[in-house]
Amino acid sequence: MPTPRANGSRNGWFRSGGLLLVTVLAFSACVHEPPFAPVDDSGGGGNGGGGENPCDPNTVYFEQQVLPILLSNCTNPAPGLNCHHTANGNNDRIQLTSYAALMNSDIIRVNRPLDSDLWEAINDTDPDDRMPRPPQNPLTADQKDLIRRWLLQGSQNNSCAESGCDTLNVTYSGTIAPLVAQRCGGCHGGGSPQGGLNLGSWTTLNAVASDGRLARSIRHQPGAPAMPPSGGMLPDCRIRQFLIWIDAGAPNN
Ligand code: HEC
Repeated sequence: MPTPRANGSRNGWFRSGGLLLVTVLAFSACVHEPPFAPVDDSGGGGNGGGGENPCDPNTVYFEQQVLPILLSNCTNPAPGLNCHHTANGNNDRIQLTSYAALMNSDIIRVNRPLDSDLWEAINDTDPDDRMPRPPQNPLTADQKDLIRRWLLQGSQNNSCAESGCDTLNVTYSGTIAPLVAQRCGGCHGGGSPQGGLNLGSWTTLNAVASDGRLARSIRHQPGAPAMPPSGGMLPDCRIRQFLIWIDAGAPNN
């Protein structure tokens, strides 16, 4: 049984009361000298489009690394699930579709990062409290490690210019499978894959590539459900990688 919490939230995994002031003060104390240039999304085609700084392998970037995890695992818009797509419904008014929404949701403690409710929720061992909720899979160790390092590096709204978006050597194993795992796996995997599509399986991905649904949904074409459903379209280069692979017959290479 989940323990009842003072704020009366159904699940109690994000205890928001009382932390707002601390969080706001701590956060505003950190924003005077942002070490990163403002995000430039102009040419990027949506989240993950890349800032102006080259990506530093020792830094975790919100835009390219943390936001895709949140979008894929926490923001399912399907009615009735009450995921963190909006701050409505029974989700403790937590919305995880952008940096601003995340920070407004009061689940990050900038000055005690590993006491953040975000961190506690993804590591909770009680299935009633853990996020994402069963039957969805918990975050992987790699995903948790990215979030941990991002929290410890100051929970910044940072972005970098990916130099490595290769459109010449697109393969299923080297390009598409990791992209799907990062951007689509939270909804299209686990115990109840959305739309009945477990896209971690090549056979399923090949089927939606072949019948045209994959290309239509990632290009947000009329009549197709827009994929991913929140956070805007994938960056242009990621869409190109998908289309190149689809044009090649969606091979298992
Ligand atoms: C936040 C959850 C979520 C994420 C992330 C997500 N999807 Fe979906 N997807 C859904 C839901 C829900 C449906 C069913 C929508 C419907 O039938 O209207 C769906 C349906 C689909 C379909 C079937 C479309 C059709 O015409 O029937 C495809 C293809 C698809 N998704 C591809 C993707 C790809 C590729 C990604 C990653 C780039 C992705 N999705 C990311 C929730 C998600």
